[in-house]
Amino acid sequence: MKTNIALIGFMGTGKTVVGKRLAEKLDKEFVELDALIERKVGKTIPEIFQQDGEIAFRELEIEAAKEASKKKNVVIACGGGVVLNKINIDRLRKESLIVYLKASPGVILRRTLSDTNERPLLKSDNKALAVKELLKFRQPFYQRAADMTIDTSKLDIDSVVERIIARVKADESLT
Ligand code: S3P
Repeated sequence: MKTNIALIGFMGTGKTVVGKRLAEKLDKEFVELDALIERKVGKTIPEIFQQDGEIAFRELEIEAAKEASKKKNVVIACGGGVVLNKINIDRLRKESLIVYLKASPGVILRRTLSDTNERPLLKSDNKALAVKELLKFRQPFYQRAADMTIDTSKLDIDSVVERIIARVKADESLT
């Protein structure tokens, strides 16, 4: 029986807020890959992108995903690009149910505009286009990795959490 839940999905789909509440409700530890990376290198994500570049960030992300994959009984909020390296999903899948949180481009744009978190990959004069294009490219990666998909566009945090818990309970009842 898998004891972890890994949340994947584009920036602004609610992985962090949902993950924290889900962990609380299921009495599991909450782990965020971006926070693991920031703690390890002592820099923020935007600083890593700016000073070291995306490739260096992806290497750190591979290490963080590897570390998190070894844990048990945790909820893992992954960065939006975790699916780009297949090794991350292969490692996570061993102990985690992989839940893809989806949202429409409009909702993502609204959420990422109102959120204080700086996203280096969405720094653009035309943020709507940046979201649309990146999402189009990434969608198949998310879909391929997902054990379960939830469209969060019209759902509040608790409704998303409840759906994941229902799935976890259903899986548990099968064992
Ligand atoms: C990224 C998403 C970010 C962060 C980094 C790269 C991406 O995390 O890991 O800026 O490639 O989609 P969130 O999805 O938590 O914003």
